[in-house]
Amino acid sequence: MSNLNPKEVAGTFAANLVQDGMTVGLGTGSTAWFAIQRLGERVREGLQMRAIPTSEASARQATELGIQLVGFDAVNHIDITIDGADEINAEFCMLKGGGGALLREKVVASITKRQICIVDPSKVVEFLGTFPLPVEVVPFGWPVVARHVEALGGSYTLRQTKDAEPTTYVTDNGNYILDCNLYPITDPPKLEQNLKMLPGVVEVGLFIDMAHTLIIGNPDGTCSLKDKETAN
Ligand code: 5RP
Repeated sequence: MSNLNPKEVAGTFAANLVQDGMTVGLGTGSTAWFAIQRLGERVREGLQMRAIPTSEASARQATELGIQLVGFDAVNHIDITIDGADEINAEFCMLKGGGGALLREKVVASITKRQICIVDPSKVVEFLGTFPLPVEVVPFGWPVVARHVEALGGSYTLRQTKDAEPTTYVTDNGNYILDCNLYPITDPPKLEQNLKMLPGVVEVGLFIDMAHTLIIGNPDGTCSLKDKETAN
């Protein structure tokens, strides 16, 4: 029996959905990495596409693979974005930002016609929030936001780097991330609204009504594909 990496299975499957002439949003993280690798292969085989990356890391990877990058000045909409998630529920609400790219990921998702969420089976949950919710905050006054999170009944960790001597993690946008424990998130839209209105919050890792397609990769090499209209 085959024991493939479900992230690679999902990422490869999604990348194969891209067609000539498309503008593609490139996600961030270990699952999106496989999708970008496959897109690079397809570009070498002749696929005509251009891409907008959601992080400096994905931009570097794409550039090394010869994928043409464009900016928002050249693009009104994105045809397909392929991105991972830390969790996704039955309503296709996603919890994202484990890789620190939530702000750019949400901007890209906001102009995407078909947002494809690629995950391994462990990411599909009933209630969001077992994975701490990333909240991007301006460095100035982050403890103020942190205290608001506590007032909402949660706790938080100020994200650190994974270096031998950790320092405060800084996003591509120069901000900090509070990883917030707010499980169970029973009303994601309301929580997103409550957090977004706090002064100092730049973005919240809840993506409501943004995913159109969910691709779950399995270790046997198969994928299950669900479109939002047919999911429930
Ligand atoms: C990055 C993200 C990622 O999509 C999310 O963290 C999933 O990552 P991985 O594919 O490595 O499990 O939101 O900001």
